Amino acid sequence: MGSGLLNVSFPRVDGELRAGSFPLAELVERFGTPLYVYHLEQIEERYKAFGHAFREVDHVVAYSVKANGNLAILHRLGQLGAGADIVSLGELYRARRAGIPPERIFYAGVGKTEEELREGLKAGIYAFNVESRGELERLDVVAESMGEVAPFAIRVNPDILSPTPHEYTRTGHAETKFGVPVEEAFELYDWARGRTHLCARGIDVHIGSQILDPLPYFDALSRVVGMVPRLREAGDELDFVDIGGGFGIPYDGESRLIIEDLARVILPVVRGTGLRLVLEPGRYIVGEAGVLLTRVEYLKQVGTKWFVIVDGGMSELIRPSHYGGYHAIEPVVMPSPRDIEVVDVVGPICESGDFLARDRSLELPEPGDLLAVRTAGAYGFAMASNYNARRRPAEVLVEGDRLHMVRRRETIEDLVRGETIPWEVPGEGGAEES
Ligand code: LLP
Repeated sequence: MGSGLLNVSFPRVDGELRAGSFPLAELVERFGTPLYVYHLEQIEERYKAFGHAFREVDHVVAYSVKANGNLAILHRLGQLGAGADIVSLGELYRARRAGIPPERIFYAGVGKTEEELREGLKAGIYAFNVESRGELERLDVVAESMGEVAPFAIRVNPDILSPTPHEYTRTGHAETKFGVPVEEAFELYDWARGRTHLCARGIDVHIGSQILDPLPYFDALSRVVGMVPRLREAGDELDFVDIGGGFGIPYDGESRLIIEDLARVILPVVRGTGLRLVLEPGRYIVGEAGVLLTRVEYLKQVGTKWFVIVDGGMSELIRPSHYGGYHAIEPVVMPSPRDIEVVDVVGPICESGDFLARDRSLELPEPGDLLAVRTAGAYGFAMASNYNARRRPAEVLVEGDRLHMVRRRETIEDLVRGETIPWEVPGEGGAEES
């Protein structure tokens, strides 16, 4: 169990975890559990670290909306100058609704629908990061039908095996669905040059997520920047190179990827190219700025094994069960010393794979105790679901001495919104007209 003493966002003061000046236990009294709590100052600080480290080159920090798309967070990042890396119509809507200007929006993803391409064009986004020949052809058709010129970058698959903790978050090697190989990328740029409704604006690469070493970024960036002279000679007026995201943070005591180190390693590759550098951090900005609070419901001993059954599980935070992701778990209020046991912290979902931690040494909590699951600001709420007809939790944002509920807990009615029982007689059983 970590002491949390070194965590600036959620320090332990007099035995109690806090978010800024607010005791987390107090937030639970007001908002219940399970609950997501975010710390705005840390989010801002992390965002600004990029600006500082990359100040000598023209750059855009296009925050990866998928990590945490809460409108309040997007809005504040947008105010600070952030752009957005989006992958769906929904994320386009979120980014625009939060006031992020279209000229700072980059549209990624392997399966963009015709509607998504059209809406992206209509919004005037900065570029589509194109992932296949089929997509480029479709973009051409859509742009032509709208009388527009579509700005694009090709996402290059550099065939680098990036050191990510789980195979699901590795995207830079040849066997993934992401990007296109170098030679095919050249062919696509060549093909697009002859099309009046397409305009090559940049080149893109993303090698995976939760990467702690700057060197794979150097390799990937060198590879794509190395392609630029040939493209320029052929007539493409490229103005950006997008290095993607994936910058790693500590979950289990490892050291984070220091952004200054990243800058030191990759700036020499960009400097002098005249290319604007686009970075797409998600987790790095929000991951450590969030905790998930959950209450112990029961303890259960099966043989020698202890289960700590809490009121949040894979429906609130799927990372442990989906990626084997580690999240530190601590009592919100430090209890008087108790026996340390090896436990599984499990949720209420009807799945054996529903756990927040396995084989974890914890001072055995008691029913009613509150636990904080750390480093849950990224891919926490964003991947939450209604499985088992559970209401998704509230999200609370701490801004200095102010507290904002930035998303209310879902209601029971929210769970059936949009559903109908076609044969139900109106008036009986509360059916709406069909
Ligand atoms: N850019 C692109 C093109 C991406 O695909 C991703 C993440 C990012 C940026 C941001 O990556 P980040 O900086 O947040 O690591 N759900 C997984 C992570 C999936 C990441 C998918 N793409 C997890 O919980 O670890």
